[in-house]
Amino acid sequence: MESEFGTVAGWTEEAVLALGPEHAVPAGCRGSGSEGALRWLADALAVRPGDRVLDSGAGVGGPAGWLAAERGVRPVCAEPMAPAVHAGRTLFGLPSVVALSQALPFADDAFDAAWCLGVLCTTEEKAALVAELRRVLVDGGRLGLLVFVADEPLPPPLPEGNSFPTSDEVSRLLGEAGFRVTGTAEADLADSPPEWKARADAVDAEVQRRHGDDPAWAEAEEQSGRVGRLLGSGALRPRLVSAVAT
Ligand SMILES: C[S@@+](CC[C@H](N)C(=O)[O-])C[C@H]1O[C@@H](n2cnc3c(N)ncnc32)[C@H](O)[C@@H]1O
Repeated sequence: MESEFGTVAGWTEEAVLALGPEHAVPAGCRGSGSEGALRWLADALAVRPGDRVLDSGAGVGGPAGWLAAERGVRPVCAEPMAPAVHAGRTLFGLPSVVALSQALPFADDAFDAAWCLGVLCTTEEKAALVAELRRVLVDGGRLGLLVFVADEPLPPPLPEGNSFPTSDEVSRLLGEAGFRVTGTAEADLADSPPEWKARADAVDAEVQRRHGDDPAWAEAEEQSGRVGRLLGSGALRPRLVSAVAT
């Protein structure tokens, strides 16, 4: 994951700076899939100007940058990979901190809404992660998740470092941490405007041109290819969840 979420994040920043700012959101949303998924979550969380919003496990900041532009908020980003945090600051000018989602450097009740996209499946410490999100949200605070769920055993080769929960496990984790689920949907990861894909592809091509001979690039491609194959087969499903802190 160091290659995929650390090294490549730095390369993504470099490529976006070379190609132009209109590439930042599409390239920065690679982990979370689609504009349609972000819109579903932003609507489900009823994000309004003035809300204090957290993006936990923000990657290079694409989803938070999209939310800032679309909903008039200034999300705070937390992300463990320093190159990704640097990219989030540079590309979107958002306040960003190096932190694991299960150990957030924020006070209790600091946020009105939070989302955590494609992160629950990257850690074994799921209960601690969800409890920490509950701690930093006010009572009645809104939480959005994108989780890659596996309800059956997955066929190899599996992506390294992932730990995909079942749909039931996600519901149970949320309930035990003090959340009530308010909505669920299957994410359509292809639901983005055509220019998003073109710009994200352009950034990928630029990264490959600059770093394609680096072993970290091949490693990251292999990892994301494994996830893509599992999603394509339907064994792994991208699930959107909205919940409220009770
Ligand atoms: C699939 S990417 C998604 C990034 C971003 N949320 C998005 O949707 O574009 C997963 C991200 O989770 C981060 N991550 C991994 N383990 C984490 C943890 N325990 N707490 C917070 N973030 C974590 C990775 O560094 C990576 O940036």
